[in-house]
Amino acid sequence: MVDEIGTGVSGVNAGDRVFGLGGVTGATAELAVLSAWAAAPGTWDDAQAAGAGLASVTAICGLVPLGPLDGRTLLVEGGAGGVGSAAVEIAIARGATVIATGSERNHAYLASLGAVPTTYGPGLAERVGALAPGGVDVALDTAASGSLADLVAIVGDAARVATVADQAGAERLGVHQANAENNSAYLAEAAELGAEGRYTPRIERSFPLEEIADAHSYVERGHTRGKVTISL
Ligand SMILES: NC(=O)c1ccc[n+]([C@@H]2O[C@H](COP(=O)([O-])OP(=O)(O)OC[C@H]3O[C@@H](n4cnc5c(N)ncnc54)[C@H](OP(=O)(O)O)[C@@H]3O)[C@@H](O)[C@H]2O)c1
Repeated sequence: MVDEIGTGVSGVNAGDRVFGLGGVTGATAELAVLSAWAAAPGTWDDAQAAGAGLASVTAICGLVPLGPLDGRTLLVEGGAGGVGSAAVEIAIARGATVIATGSERNHAYLASLGAVPTTYGPGLAERVGALAPGGVDVALDTAASGSLADLVAIVGDAARVATVADQAGAERLGVHQANAENNSAYLAEAAELGAEGRYTPRIERSFPLEEIADAHSYVERGHTRGKVTISL
């Protein structure tokens, strides 16, 4: 909810329900100065709106270097996480066929997003080859699992692979490395898909502020389905 508007800011009013990025100030607080924002769709509750900002913008920034997705087959490594699930739904909305990796317990969730699920780890190329006999056009890594070289081998060209999670691997292999940008247009795209029911941020768990250390420990296990939020 907008409390105050800075000088020179237009297109938003006090009392509007917005979501976005907290820039360098961070956002685990009653009040945050947003560096990019968009109106939150009525289909999301406040926790979903809070979880959607960084995840959706990171996903879109990771998809941009892969080019047009309409009619193409995309492999998403780590498709059940906050960034990965956003990338799956946004890529499908842009016309892609998506194969997404996740542990077995997440396969039904990945299928509910519209992706073809498969397991990550050894044998990935064989499993993906069976699911996509025509080949995979592009791949996005959101897992930092050390699988970038496998993704390049599956796609056949480092220029058609991007990562938001493995900077060292990207430099070594010549893969695109993408970071979240302060981009209100990307947030607006995510919000529009939210209003249409085509991007639904999933909140796996919410912790009270007093348990924020537990929340960080939980996320650091690296197996979050969707997002973890802090309630104030
Ligand atoms: N560049 C940026 O601006 C930016 C911004 C935000 C986040 N990030 C990075 O993006 C990554 C994803 O963030 P997130 O918030 O989406 O994380 P997350 O919610 O914790 O999701 C991680 C996902 O990775 C999957 N996973 C775990 N081990 C895996 C493995 N060995 N191979 C493949 N997938 C595996 C998990 O699936 P299972 O539970 O099914 O195992 C989980 O769904 C993190 O590395 C984060 O630091 C970068």
